[in-house]
Amino acid sequence: MEPFRFHLFVCTQQKPEGVTSCPASGSFAVLEALDREIQAGTLKGNAQLTTCGCMGLCDEGPVLVVYPEGVYYRRLKPSDVAEIVHSHLEHGKPVDRIVWKDAAAMKAMSAEHEEKYRAMVAARDRAGTLPDHLDQMIRAYWPSRCLLTALELDIFTAVGDGGNAQQIGTKVRASARGVSMLLDALVSLGLLSKSGGNYKNTPESARFFTQGSKDNHRNGLLHIANIWHNWSTLTDAVRRGAHVAADRGRDPETTRDFIAAMQRNSKDRAPLVVKALGTTGVKRVLDLGGGSGAYSIAWAKASPEVQCEILDVPEVVSLTTEYVRQAGVSGQVKVGAGDMLEGDLGSGYDLIMLNAICHMFSPEQNRAIFRRAHKALAPKGRLVVQDFILNPDKTGPQHAALFSLNMLVNTEAGASYSEPEYVEWIKASGFTEVSRIELPGPSALIVGVR
Ligand SMILES: C[S@@+](CC[C@H](N)C(=O)[O-])C[C@H]1O[C@@H](n2cnc3c(N)ncnc32)[C@H](O)[C@@H]1O
Ligand code: FES
Repeated sequence: MEPFRFHLFVCTQQKPEGVTSCPASGSFAVLEALDREIQAGTLKGNAQLTTCGCMGLCDEGPVLVVYPEGVYYRRLKPSDVAEIVHSHLEHGKPVDRIVWKDAAAMKAMSAEHEEKYRAMVAARDRAGTLPDHLDQMIRAYWPSRCLLTALELDIFTAVGDGGNAQQIGTKVRASARGVSMLLDALVSLGLLSKSGGNYKNTPESARFFTQGSKDNHRNGLLHIANIWHNWSTLTDAVRRGAHVAADRGRDPETTRDFIAAMQRNSKDRAPLVVKALGTTGVKRVLDLGGGSGAYSIAWAKASPEVQCEILDVPEVVSLTTEYVRQAGVSGQVKVGAGDMLEGDLGSGYDLIMLNAICHMFSPEQNRAIFRRAHKALAPKGRLVVQDFILNPDKTGPQHAALFSLNMLVNTEAGASYSEPEYVEWIKASGFTEVSRIELPGPSALIVGVR
């Protein structure tokens, strides 16, 4: 069978809690075990592992189908997987004790399931029941809020190598009652495990959410917890057409979380942006609102010829300077304090970058920045806007459309903008060629050449 010798389908159809399904019977653990076993053995590259939807065989799950033979396995456990890979895939002998051979029974079960399913859909429709996807959307913030509170309290660090609710509550200075409810909810979300009243971090939680781990993302993620408060004012902000949240100010901790969040977003992306733009002819770069300096750092690392200047607000400058120092490029990246909305931007730059900047400002403010950037660029110099760019009718992509509301509640006059808007503003500022560069991920580049 081309292009693979085997194609394996594992059912991972999610169903509402309490309804029999392959995931509820453990199909994700089977999937992981299969992946591990295939990657480790001789079948790597010859066996394609794919998840699939319900086949109506849910009572016998987890179900795996192996093609080209069309062999069905049922009631699988991760401990069966090594035998299937070794005996069936490597030596052509299906594992008889778990192969489901009764095709007639399978067909009958599948048909009965389909009939019941269709009857259930019709009954819910007649009764005017809210569809599951809407019900889920309306509650989608529950798990999110639960994790944000755990991060705010630094629960995962307090869990450490394990402890009971009382011990963890004492460490985070919160009530035993509240903490034990939160801990149990975190277990239900798969972020902790619990055994006999003792809670432990999962490997993922320990890696990404605890102090001392080199991959700890907590500070950057706290930015999302910080802006949550403003999102709670969305209804009034929509009524007013502008943000209504009291200015929570930028205390040093909030600023640290915000810049850590920028670093999280930008550090892996920046080298891709530099590669997409190319270093040819780039010697002087101005990075407006450089944040953690991720983009200037990427330019400096891409070419020893490039000198970058970052302009950011005074309260951010010391954080930026530290990120630049840690990256070992202080000789090529200078950090200055200032307001990009005011004053002269200088002259003779080959490239001016506005990464995740324009959405903070109004159309008029962006036009003014573009005009001043045009003046500050050398002939043939490039203005680069990176942002979440809306389709012309502004209804998508979804991230850009939702981000626009993020700006409604968090800024004076910011929004996501569409490509036609950017093109018009850039051309009106004197740039001749304007083009768009697609990148993987939620943002794209719009480049104007002077
Ligand atoms: C959304 S962050 C983007 C950071 C960085 N460009 C990136 O993509 O990772 C916006 C940055 O602009 C800075 N900023 C906001 N208003 C500014 C202004 N008027 N002048 C200079 N910098 C400003 C903020 O402090 C922050 O570092
Ligand atoms: S959920 Fe897997 S067969 Fe129905």
